[in-house]
Amino acid sequence: MSLRPEELIAAASAARKRAYAPYSRFPVGAALLTATGKVYTGCNIENASYGLTVCAERVAVFQAVAAGEREFLALAVVGGKDAPSFPCGACRQVLAEFAPELEIFIGRPGGPWIRRTLKDLLPDTFIMK
Ligand code: THU
Repeated sequence: MSLRPEELIAAASAARKRAYAPYSRFPVGAALLTATGKVYTGCNIENASYGLTVCAERVAVFQAVAAGEREFLALAVVGGKDAPSFPCGACRQVLAEFAPELEIFIGRPGGPWIRRTLKDLLPDTFIMK
C-alpha cells in the first residue's frame, strides 16, 4: 500500500463530515484506496424511510466501481468517537465481492485506529461456485 493508513483515515474523516445522518445523528466516513492509487470516499446517506439508508462503506465502493475501478487495496472507516465503528455485515459482503484480500483500518475522530483484514471480519465468505 502506497498511502500511509493515517492518510486514508484522514480522507475517511473528511468524508464523515459530509454524512447525511439526521435520523441517527451517527456520521460515518469511508475511504477506499484502489490499485491505481486513487482514493474514493463515501459517507452514510440516510432517508426518512429508514431502510433506504446506505452506509458510508457501500457509497465508497459504488463510487469507485461506477468510476471504472474494481481492484481495491485498503479501506478506512471512521464512525463514532467512543468505540471502533466496524463495517456492518451487508458492507462486508459487498466489499468481499471485489476485494476478499482487503485491508481495513478502523479509526475514530481524533483517536486511535486498528487494523483488520476483510478475512478477519468475514470468514467463510459466500461465493457462487
Ligand atoms: N453505518 C455506516 O455508515 N456504516 C456501517 O458499517 C454501519 C452503519 C451508518 C448507517 C446509519 O446511517 C448509521 O450508521 C447508524 O446505523
